[in-house]
Amino acid sequence: MPVDLHNERPLAWDSATLDADTKAMLDNLQPNILRAHVREHLSVLFVRFNDAAEGRAFLRRVATTKMKSARRHLEEVRDFATGRRRGTPYVGIGISKAGYRDLGHSVEDVRKFGDAAFRDGMKRRTGFVNDPPVEEWERVYQREIHAVILIGDAEPGPVARLREEILGDLPASARLLGEERGQGMRNPAGDGIEHFGYVDGRSQPLFVKDEVDKEPKRHWDPAFPLSNILVPDPFAPDPGRHHGSYLVFRKLEQNVRAFKEIERDLADSLGLEGADRDRAGAMLVGRFKDGTPLTLKPKATGGPVVNDFSFDGDDGSKCPFSGHVRKTNPRSFGREVIMARRGQTYGERTDEPWDDSPPGDRPSGEVGLLFMAFNSSLPGQFEFTQQSWANNEDFEVEATGHDPVIGQGERGLKVTFPKVWGRPEQSEPHAQVAQTVTMMGGEYFFAPSLAYLRNL
Ligand code: HEM
Repeated sequence: MPVDLHNERPLAWDSATLDADTKAMLDNLQPNILRAHVREHLSVLFVRFNDAAEGRAFLRRVATTKMKSARRHLEEVRDFATGRRRGTPYVGIGISKAGYRDLGHSVEDVRKFGDAAFRDGMKRRTGFVNDPPVEEWERVYQREIHAVILIGDAEPGPVARLREEILGDLPASARLLGEERGQGMRNPAGDGIEHFGYVDGRSQPLFVKDEVDKEPKRHWDPAFPLSNILVPDPFAPDPGRHHGSYLVFRKLEQNVRAFKEIERDLADSLGLEGADRDRAGAMLVGRFKDGTPLTLKPKATGGPVVNDFSFDGDDGSKCPFSGHVRKTNPRSFGREVIMARRGQTYGERTDEPWDDSPPGDRPSGEVGLLFMAFNSSLPGQFEFTQQSWANNEDFEVEATGHDPVIGQGERGLKVTFPKVWGRPEQSEPHAQVAQTVTMMGGEYFFAPSLAYLRNL
């Protein structure tokens, strides 16, 4: 029987009564899709094959000798929590539409992928999401990438070793087109942060029972059906039990100096003083740097990062409708749009991203986010979030403006901000903040089932 992806009940993956089909699904699914895998140190390899037989044999070897299943990953997390032992590194594979063709799948075959954005590839979708023209992307992304190999671990050593082994095994006909290195960053509380200094990765759709059980759910239900991220793998031996997920990869450069100047200037122009000055940045992101949701509190509160909230009853006087987390998850609707974000920050810094150093001490380039997310529909999830929500000045209510963090496109409209948290008085019309995140290139991939990879 095919696995019911629409089942709303979180996956009790280690229950004795788990059915055989779901077990087969977990044994054939790549890790890091259902549940985030540790990838504090991450190597992202972009490969081109050029010889179908050699490319297939290479992927088969990586899958059979270096990759674990989603089930193995869940077991490792459980064993680590009970103090038994550390987990093994993560290796993941994504194949682009061009990659499937190069591996010998016919044009008709590739049409079996239901996803129009995947079948087009990212280069042909720039118009759908206001991306910069392909000629402006970094060179590696202008080329035809066939596969991406992700190698991640808590420590740098295992990543370096696996990277050497995998590259050493790459056939002579294949090419390493390029590589990105991700490196996690944390604030003093130990929470993962992005380069603007804000806690990131907290709000996620959750699929497994252990994770769902840990979360309070009075205002927001973090449990999602597998249909948000999984689709049958069309080329697997048994697509009803062998699944994959569409992976969006985008290199997003962050001009941290410009963003910090914007925070400062916005606080000045609204006349914010003392601790209230932090509200300027929080109005752009929708959370304070420490993760406190702006719709709940006028000031950062510290403590565990809350995710049990909604925007019900907030007419924009607490968290503006344009705030990044409000744009990308309005919470009262659009659950089918929510994807599983699995990105990592890149680039080295000498300053502390979370402290109050002046903007002049901040990097203006070469750092950013390797944005990655698993989707069951690229047009319905990633592209919809980027275009219909983040890039849309009139989303939810008229004239709210672009998402100040990731919005792309002309920012003609003026916007206002609440002068005092929770009160109706709005500022004078204000030019929208400038774009500080630049898309440097990317690609759409499919993360196939292990059953497909092992049978190549
Ligand atoms: C450099 C670029 C980006 C930065 C700096 C950034 C930053 C953040 C931060 C600080 C959060 C709050 C942490 C959390 O709630 O987990 C967040 C959440 C989120 N971001 Fe981004 N982000 C970026 C790119 C993107 C992109 C490209 C998308 C999708 C098109 C996106 C979608 C989301 C979503 C869906 C959430 C969770 C919202 C929620 O459920 O409350 N982000 N981001």
